[in-house]
Amino acid sequence: MTTQFYMSKRLPPYVFKTINDLKAAARARGEDIIDLGMGNPDIPTPKPIVNKLIEAARNPRNHRYSVSRGIPKLREAIANRYARKWGVSLDAEAEVVVTIGAKEGLSHLVLTLLAPGERTLLPEPTYPIHIFSTMMADGRLIRVPMTNQDDLLDKLGASICSERPKLLILSFPHNPTGVCVSREFFQEVIRLARRYDVMVIHDFAYADIVFDGQAAPSILEIEGAREVAVEIFSMSKSYSMPGWRVGFCVGNADIIAALSRVKSYLDYGIFQPIQIAAIIALNECEEHVERIAGEYRKRRNVLVESFGRAGWPVAMPEATMFVWARIPERFRGMGSLEFSKLLLDRAKVAVAPGVGFGESGDGHVRLALVENEKRIRQAARGIKLLLQAAPGKPEVDLAAAVRESKSQ
Ligand SMILES: Cc1ncc(COP(=O)(O)O)c(C=O)c1O
Repeated sequence: MTTQFYMSKRLPPYVFKTINDLKAAARARGEDIIDLGMGNPDIPTPKPIVNKLIEAARNPRNHRYSVSRGIPKLREAIANRYARKWGVSLDAEAEVVVTIGAKEGLSHLVLTLLAPGERTLLPEPTYPIHIFSTMMADGRLIRVPMTNQDDLLDKLGASICSERPKLLILSFPHNPTGVCVSREFFQEVIRLARRYDVMVIHDFAYADIVFDGQAAPSILEIEGAREVAVEIFSMSKSYSMPGWRVGFCVGNADIIAALSRVKSYLDYGIFQPIQIAAIIALNECEEHVERIAGEYRKRRNVLVESFGRAGWPVAMPEATMFVWARIPERFRGMGSLEFSKLLLDRAKVAVAPGVGFGESGDGHVRLALVENEKRIRQAARGIKLLLQAAPGKPEVDLAAAVRESKSQ
């Protein structure tokens, strides 16, 4: 075929696919692979939400096309949760749009806002769709390395002044590093964005997965934020509803109207029983959100403790369902993709190579807390064996191991 696939050609190969394919092949051979790769929550969706779905699905009135921007009661429930949890009052009619998960919302939002050649500024490493959505829109990326909060603010400020991006995409608590930011950080971001006329998208997917008594601020808490910013929320993590595909976007009314308009051309809304069940989640499941966050906290503790004892000390994240682990020094030269292959092959553990979150992530791998505590300990035992296997002259042994894992 001579046809050029305009958009798909612009997208680079998906790094995570390599590991996914190797994992699937290993499992097909009967190997027990512990999967800490994709951030695909394994905790069952709370029962009241599932029960409401079943009840609503029985009613034929709910079988018709729904409303693209979300049914009014769901938008009200979203506004009510924002008021309860973050003290932010939202107009459910003008400042809220429901999306088919955060990922769909993010990608269509960037396509809606960015003209070809316009620039998006973002910290890197980052969740891949923050990068690919701009590529799909034929925009240009300005990437600044994720460092500490003050340094990041300085870099974002310098970039905003000199390169005049149209869009700034942020996401805190942060995937993959687990870093959180303060209200003051957002205050400065909003000041800069208003001054230089930059639109801000804040991806708040891990809003509720925060540990040790901390709380993550919403960017909309900041005065003046809704002049320039929207926030995207995902029901996948807080309510453990990844397969249900419910998210939403709230904030600046012009941006919400633009996204709603584009979406009205693209979809007929989420299956209505799912929207009805999402109302129950938002209105009645706060204790389940806490339980789910508590489960991730326990797993984080087990992972950090057991990996440390296995000989791979990793930093304790403040939030999210991920551990961003620096590759042990003697393996670092391999890069994150080869190291991930080695972990899969020798330790029987699947991880996400850091390079998949941007070039600057190549010294790390991301471990998702989506296996139970027993399985995480089993992963640590596999890793201990790998680390002990090549004492003394790792380069020689590891080079051979990599060659071998490549040839399989
Ligand atoms: C930062 C971030 N945003 C969005 C998403 C996707 O959320 P959803 O399942 O609602 O599409 C994820 C999922 O891993 C994520 O890590």
